[in-house]
Amino acid sequence: MIRSNPRAVVTGAGGGLGRSICKKLAERGGHVLVSDIDVAGAEETKRMIEGLGGRAEVMRCDVSRADEVEALRDRAVQVLGGVDLIVNNAGVAVGGAVGKVPLSDWDWIVGINLMGVVYGCHFFVPLMKEQGSGHVLNVASIAGITYAPEMGPYNATKAAVVALTETLAAELSGKGVGATVLCPYFFETNIHKAARAHTEKPMLDQIDKVMKQNKVNADEVAARALKACDKDEVFCFPHTEAKVLQGLKRFSPGAIRKLFPLAEKLMR
Ligand SMILES: NC(=O)c1ccc[n+]([C@@H]2O[C@H](COP(=O)([O-])OP(=O)(O)OC[C@H]3O[C@@H](n4cnc5c(N)ncnc54)[C@H](O)[C@@H]3O)[C@@H](O)[C@H]2O)c1
Repeated sequence: MIRSNPRAVVTGAGGGLGRSICKKLAERGGHVLVSDIDVAGAEETKRMIEGLGGRAEVMRCDVSRADEVEALRDRAVQVLGGVDLIVNNAGVAVGGAVGKVPLSDWDWIVGINLMGVVYGCHFFVPLMKEQGSGHVLNVASIAGITYAPEMGPYNATKAAVVALTETLAAELSGKGVGATVLCPYFFETNIHKAARAHTEKPMLDQIDKVMKQNKVNADEVAARALKACDKDEVFCFPHTEAKVLQGLKRFSPGAIRKLFPLAEKLMR
């Protein structure tokens, strides 16, 4: 359960889902440390939070740097007086087949999507254990559970975030601290525009189309994620598509691989 008037830290909060989570926290009377490498975007999120009745501070933080995430934790203690919720949300995408994606792009995505979450947990969890309260919300994806082709770097980092969060939930049991992993399907944000793509087919155009069609938008994903934290649920699948894919994977891991070419056809 996230306490009322939560003191929260959100990474990658200069736009997209991070901003939506901040807005939902503002509606709960939250005091939010808004962080991103995009400071202008983070400032805009701060204005939105204040417009909704919440309080906000901004700090530039590149989650791929341990020293910057440690400094984010220190600033949170200083300005918020403690942390009730850390949202490890910052993320990027890389598309392309294994062997074709340059190693420099593997480093880039692992640094942000995986190590960014590792650092967020490493620096904030001991603080929460000390407090005897708090919640960790790690943003993964349904791509962390079902693995579409030409998405290897993204799939691998998100699968690791799922594993890390489930581990954390077990380690934190009985300590007053919870952990939730969010696994959405596609919804509209800017993630594909900042993506590094090495695909033969116009994959990003297809993704753009699917994202725009999804009626469960970033604000609704944010609301569902916070509700899952309230209930101390380890997994949150905010989209029906994600629930179906996850169920199918458990029921028949082989069948799902046969579905990918069909899904690709439907997406065109
Ligand atoms: N949009 C989707 O369809 C979708 C689906 C499943 C999961 N997700 C996940 O949701 C999370 C948020 O992504 P989004 O869709 O809102 O995308 P977005 O691109 O709109 O937002 C991502 C934010 O992260 C920031 N960021 C990038 N690199 C950073 C770094 N090194 N340090 C700090 N911040 C950094 C960006 O500036 C941006 O504000 C990501 O983890 C993403 O993988 C998105």
